[in-house]
Amino acid sequence: MSLQLGDTAPDFEAETTHGPIRFHEWKEGSWTVFFSHPKDFTPVCTTELGYTAALGDEFKARNVKAIAVSVDDVSDHNSWIGDIEETQSTTVNFPIIGDPERKVATLYQMIHPQANDTLTVRSVFIIDTNNKIRLTLTYPASTGRNFDEILRVIDSMQLTDSNKVATPVNWKQGEDVIISPSLSNDEAAELFPEGWDEVRPYLRITKHP
Ligand code: BEZ
Repeated sequence: MSLQLGDTAPDFEAETTHGPIRFHEWKEGSWTVFFSHPKDFTPVCTTELGYTAALGDEFKARNVKAIAVSVDDVSDHNSWIGDIEETQSTTVNFPIIGDPERKVATLYQMIHPQANDTLTVRSVFIIDTNNKIRLTLTYPASTGRNFDEILRVIDSMQLTDSNKVATPVNWKQGEDVIISPSLSNDEAAELFPEGWDEVRPYLRITKHP
């Protein structure tokens, strides 16, 4: 059975480039972007981890911690970090889990044998402060992920957690939102006194709360 949205993210202990961690304890009180990459010293992975490091302030502003994993060991990660920092002009400020025995990769089903029977695919788990899995993504090794999209999704989830709204296609922070279809017009009028544009009874557009 695969890990699904709403499941509790499995806890684990692991060695990382920031020392040993117990996952739930490490992330306590924070959202987490937990992502796998296939292999150290590979080109796409180098750009992905560099970009994630460059987004450090953006993650911090959203109370998000990033953590990466691959089946390489911590000493390989530490050697590779120098290359990431030099080539991507950044400082890798988040931990990378060493998982040569594939314990964490197996727990999170990050090895897809039909794609590659030893290396992790490019998985992403976004996990909230209650340790619930809120988003999963799986990309093939040859395609780098869009970490701006990961920030965008976090913005949407954090907004929709605290407001009775949903976000439309390609929405970005600050743009108009959709009033939750579960609200009647009377209830919506209380929560959105500035009103809305009723494109259809089920499609009511209002300003970003
Ligand atoms: C890469 O990061 O460039 C990569 C890693 C494994 C397979 C293919 C590409």
